[in-house]
Amino acid sequence: MIVLGIESSCDETAAAVVEFDSSRSEIISNLIATQHDVHARFGGVVPELASRRHIENISPLIKCALKSAQKSLEDIEGVAVTNAPGLLGSLLVGISAAKGLAYARGIPLIGVNHLEGHLNAATLEFGGIPLPYIGLVVSGGHTSLYLVNDFGNYRMLGATRDDAAGESFDKVAKLLNLGYPGGPAIDRRAETGDTKAFKFSTPKFSDGDSLDFSFSGIKTAVMLKYRKEMEIGSVSENFISDMVASFQESVVATLVGKAMEAVHVHKAKAVVLAGGVAANRTLRKRLKEKADESLIPSFIPSMSLCTDNAAMIAYVGARRLRQGERSSFTLNAIANQEIGI
Ligand code: KG4
Ligand code: ZN
Repeated sequence: MIVLGIESSCDETAAAVVEFDSSRSEIISNLIATQHDVHARFGGVVPELASRRHIENISPLIKCALKSAQKSLEDIEGVAVTNAPGLLGSLLVGISAAKGLAYARGIPLIGVNHLEGHLNAATLEFGGIPLPYIGLVVSGGHTSLYLVNDFGNYRMLGATRDDAAGESFDKVAKLLNLGYPGGPAIDRRAETGDTKAFKFSTPKFSDGDSLDFSFSGIKTAVMLKYRKEMEIGSVSENFISDMVASFQESVVATLVGKAMEAVHVHKAKAVVLAGGVAANRTLRKRLKEKADESLIPSFIPSMSLCTDNAAMIAYVGARRLRQGERSSFTLNAIANQEIGI
């Protein structure tokens, strides 16, 4: 089954063609039109500008995705589109394009939850992952741990109580003028710093064994330390590098620690990393090391399948279509929608 995937939930317009096969699916094309140039000078995503750029990009991008897959619209058997969660104006652009194509061609339409897309990116890339597994989704808007019993059978074990991990990377990078988007900037800069220079930590909750996260405190701790150093006029390049490295170290230790705790508590057979922050090199390396130590297989998708993409949406959509699910043409955008609750 050949499915066109469309993703426009935030600041990346994406289109992909995936050939679904129950044993092994193939990504035939996977394109992204990034909007970083539009939002960089504001230091964050401006929703109105994001929707406008999606409108400009969506049709040419879909045409390019079909062309690079060497397919025509006639070859497409279903259209999958992200309909939740995300920026409403941005989501609506993708949904409208998907509806138009599905209606014109008389093929099925399926709405896909963006988080479910991230959670299944590893299965798309690596094939069957031993069940049950622990999935850690770390993105700009979410930081959640799931117990995955099967496709579509998810149980949320914990989530952030305040900022998402990606949000904390972006906010710290903005504070330190490291550029936008903040995550990749911190990833690069941390290489030059000392991870032990400062002791930042994330809180322990009163309900000791909670698998929830909290990242707003560490962001504030970085801010206070930076301001203090500014006041005494001794902010050096080394100081910034050390702060960034120490901050990243603490966030990564928390993410990996909780993911592995979940693996042990729930006797999971594997651990999976997903979402934009999963592109972080230290996080990828550390999760693999800790999983190896516990003799648990880890599945960490390629960078292009960690950050927002439409291949993961096409894949989840194809699986749902195969199960006989369809969305109606009243499919709507939903700003907030969790999975596994
Ligand atoms: O999944 P994603 O592409 O979009 C959302 O669904 O939010 O995640 C975006 C987040 C941003 O916060 C970005 O700074 C972060 O992923 N990110 C990274 C890295 N690459 C992207 N964070 C840390 N290290 C990276 N290399
Ligand atoms: Zn995402």
